[in-house]
Amino acid sequence: KTPDSWLPRDPRLIRLTGVHPFNVEAPLSDLFNEGFLTSPELFYVRNHGHVPQVRDEEIPDWEFTVEGLVDRPMTLTLRQLMEEYEQQTYPITLVCAGNRRKEQNVVRKTKGFSWGAAGVSTALFTGVLMADVIRRAKPKRGARYVCMEGADKLPNGYYGTSVKLNWVMDENRGMMLAHGMNGEMLRPDHGKPLRAVIPGQIGGRSVKWLKKLIVTAEPSDNWYHIYDNRVLPTMVSPEESANKPEWWTDERYAIYDLSTNSAIAYPAHDERLSMTESSENYRVKGYAYGGGGRRVTRVEISLDQGKTWRLANIDYAEDRYRDASPQHLYGGSLDFGWREASFCWCFWELDMSVAELAGAKDILCRAMDESMNLQPRDLYWSVLGMMNNPWYRIAICKED
Ligand code: MTE
Repeated sequence: KTPDSWLPRDPRLIRLTGVHPFNVEAPLSDLFNEGFLTSPELFYVRNHGHVPQVRDEEIPDWEFTVEGLVDRPMTLTLRQLMEEYEQQTYPITLVCAGNRRKEQNVVRKTKGFSWGAAGVSTALFTGVLMADVIRRAKPKRGARYVCMEGADKLPNGYYGTSVKLNWVMDENRGMMLAHGMNGEMLRPDHGKPLRAVIPGQIGGRSVKWLKKLIVTAEPSDNWYHIYDNRVLPTMVSPEESANKPEWWTDERYAIYDLSTNSAIAYPAHDERLSMTESSENYRVKGYAYGGGGRRVTRVEISLDQGKTWRLANIDYAEDRYRDASPQHLYGGSLDFGWREASFCWCFWELDMSVAELAGAKDILCRAMDESMNLQPRDLYWSVLGMMNNPWYRIAICKED
């Protein structure tokens, strides 16, 4: 029995850290087959500890505070948040900073567990702009950060982190306090009844089971803000990092925006391509995402280790939600008038002949974003194994 035994979970999910805590990703092809929006059943989960249990009848009275460097500290209930603030709904892709860490662990063991390439999922989130809440609390002069704290008590305190106040106040960044996901209440694993959603940044900033917003002059001093979600310089070893707190407290190494990334879903690593279809085309398919609201502007495929590249076709499903009808959505409207950034993954595909694929050693893909940030050829190893984004590779093995 674990502290989460009361929670039903989908058997298709792959457990990455044993029975507890619950850290899971779907098989990449299952995740991809769901399409643009991920169902709550297959949405990746990253929990540092147990899931706080909240009964449905307690939800409206869930309280959270807005405190710190503000003229009007507030205690709000979820009911007030839903009744007194404008509700928004829009699609956002969350990505764990450890997505694709398995490839780093193969090169040299990091301190993190092995994610494949399915530590990424997309949902329609419904809630309130964090800017609307913070504005009412009236930040004081000198306020520069918004710290967030969850209700999950962990060995090193409650889970918490921070983002910059000026990002929160920039409505185009869409940072929100969400209570809904794909037209229903958040599921327990995803923060029921209230979480932060920080679009375009690593999932670690989107605090679940939210209890506190603290406006401060300095970044969060929460243990999980300091010792998690960082890319330390590559020469820092696990042993060395343990004895040098100054490596960890250096805010320059904290990760915020996601890096440009992509993966091949088809063919899968263990898929068999039959040569009897040699005259046929095979559709190579996958996903890509950019960071900080930057759109992926190209995805390229190589069959010759990166000497030459071919352009894949990209589908930006996110854009279709700009015109969607709000009626079916839970508690809010879909309003894109104010936002032009891209906060979601996109899907790409390219038809290639089976004969050509059979003659290659591997299939590589890489994405570039609108600021021309291109995925690197080489992996950047770091002690926590985060933000791994070199060219994605599917090896082709021939059978006799
Ligand atoms: N918030 C709390 N309170 N506790 C956590 O363990 N994990 C963070 C973030 N928010 C976490 C949290 C991390 S590292 C990620 S990647 C995302 O939640 C994962 O969100 P998800 O489980 O809904 O996919």
